Parts: sequence; structure tokens; C-alpha cells
Amino acid sequence: MNDTIKRILEEANERAKVIASLEDAEDMRVKMLGKKGSLTEIMKSMKELAPEDRKAFGQAANEARAQIESLINEKIAYFREAKKQAEFAAEKIDVTEPGKVRRLGTKHLVSITIDEISRIFMNMGFSVAEGPEVETVFNNFDALNAGPNHPARDMSDTFYITKDVLLRTQTSCVQVRTLENQKPPIKVIAPGRCFRCDTPDATHSPMFHQVEGLVVGEGITMADLKGVLDSFAKQMFGSSVQTKFRPHHFPFTEPSAEMDVSCFKCGGKGCNVCKGSGWIEILGCGMVHPNVLKVGGIDTEKYTGFAFGMGVERIAMLKYEVDDIRLLYENDVRFIDQFK
Ligand code: DAH
Repeated sequence: MNDTIKRILEEANERAKVIASLEDAEDMRVKMLGKKGSLTEIMKSMKELAPEDRKAFGQAANEARAQIESLINEKIAYFREAKKQAEFAAEKIDVTEPGKVRRLGTKHLVSITIDEISRIFMNMGFSVAEGPEVETVFNNFDALNAGPNHPARDMSDTFYITKDVLLRTQTSCVQVRTLENQKPPIKVIAPGRCFRCDTPDATHSPMFHQVEGLVVGEGITMADLKGVLDSFAKQMFGSSVQTKFRPHHFPFTEPSAEMDVSCFKCGGKGCNVCKGSGWIEILGCGMVHPNVLKVGGIDTEKYTGFAFGMGVERIAMLKYEVDDIRLLYENDVRFIDQFK
């Protein structure tokens, strides 16, 4: 009978040699030590032995079981470790490897300029108003005192959606919306996109931006207009610039003016930025026309106001010396990146 056990141990050694995975090891355990395993079967036959032989056989069989178990456990430990090592290798990261470069974006020059203008007016107590880019013809023209024959209403200048709806040609229509929705004292700026039927060239784009301004209150005069806009010019272009106001015409203001600043590049001597004149035109402005206040339901006996409007691209181009407006819309990152 000890021969049988010997054979079983030999079988165990042979099987152990070819174990190549945790599953193989488990399989060997079942086939040798399981309920119907080869060692288990032999143990069952113990009752056929003479009683005096049983003890020795039992001992030998138990030792064999212990040996087989340790053979299997050794393999299991080996393959568990191998599996762990393989997982470690797969998860390994090289902390010395250079990281992926993430390029930081920058604000667009138009946004930078709108932010600069807005910050200056907000510091003077203005809040920001908004209006839609698709506007009514009424808000864009009629309410702003631009009568039915005003040349800007022409199809060749304005993008019409329908007879009564258009892409706003100016942010001045936000004045109308504000007057309708707020009560004096009013002090707002309105930055936003405008659209005109212009063929793109170095200074024209069918889409551009303006910042509108509106102040309405008791006793507001041209002196307030000049004080606010002169302060704006000094904060925007440098404390040494001077301003001058030239008479002009806008339908929605009376009197109307254009404001020039002395050239911030040459100080007024004449250079490429001011085209030799020493002055640069910056914005349109004026005292709000009573007809506009009336559309907004404002008591024109009690209240007066001033308004202004400036082109954002024009100011950005002057300040940062960009010589072609189209550069602002080409989305060339090398251009945009310069204004970090
Ligand atoms: N809306 C005018 C334009 O597009 C600019 C302007 C001029 C706005 C005078 C104003 C203003 O508010 O008072 O040319």
C-alpha cells in the first residue's frame, strides 16, 4: 500500500511541474485532494486493510496530503506574486517623463478692450445694460429719432431680417430699451455687437463692436458729458491726453459732438497713429434728444441726459497699433497671443 502512496506523490510531483497558472493549481487540488480526488479515493480503501496496518498507512497518507498541499500552495503563492508583479508593471508611471504642455489661452483683443472700457465706466458708477443683436427697426431707427428717410435705413447699409426686424447697426438701441425699463437716475453702458452691410477692408467689417453710454437724471448738462468723457479718455489713453469736442450731427442727440483725444503716441506733434494731425477721433456723443426721452416715457421737463457711443475695434486698433481690422477676426493664435 505504501507503494500506492508513493505513486500518488510521484503523480503529484509530475502534475506540479506543469502547473502554469492559479487555475491549474486549483485543478490539481480538486483532482488529488477533492472529494473524488486520487488521494481521497485511496484513503477510502483504508478500511480494507488489516487493523494493524491502518495506523502506518493513515500516517503515510496524511503526510502525503500535507506534501501535496504544500506543493499546491507553493505554486499558488508563486502565481499570485507573478500576477501582482504583472499588474504593477502595467500600472507603472514614469514620474520623470515630461508632462503634456497645456497652452493657456488668452482673451481676445476685442474682449480685452471691452473689459478695459467697462472697468473705467463701472468705476465711475455705471452699470452694464444689454440688448439683443436682432432688433426691431423701431428701436434701431424710429425711437432714436432717425426718420423714415434717414440714409442709414437703406437696404444697402443695413441687414434686414424682415421689414420690421434687422441686425442692429448700433448699440444706441439699448438706450431705448433702457429708457423704457428703468427710471432716472440712469447711468449705463452697453457693450455689444453691431452689423452693417460693409465690404471688409482694413478699417471696415460687417460685424463689429460698440460701447454705448447713457446718463439721464435731473440737471444733467453738457458739462457732465465733457467731465465724464474727458476722465474716460485720460484713464484709457494716459493721464496726459487732452480732449476736444467738435460739433457733429446724430439724430438722437442735440447738440451732438465728436470727441477727439490728443495723440497718445506722439503727444500731438503728428505721427502715423494720428495721421499727422495730432488728434484722434474716438467717439460720438451729445445731449439726449427730447424725442428719444419721450419714447422712453421720461418727463423731459424734469430730466435731461447725455449719451455716447464708441467703436471698440477702432479704439483697440489705435491703442495697440493694429493696422488691419481683419486681423481681429482671422483667429490666428499668433496674433491673439500678443495681447497677453
Ligand atoms: N450710434 C452712433 C454710431 O453708430 C454712435 C453714437 C453717437 C452713439 C452719438 C451715441 C451718441 O450714443 O450720443 O455712429
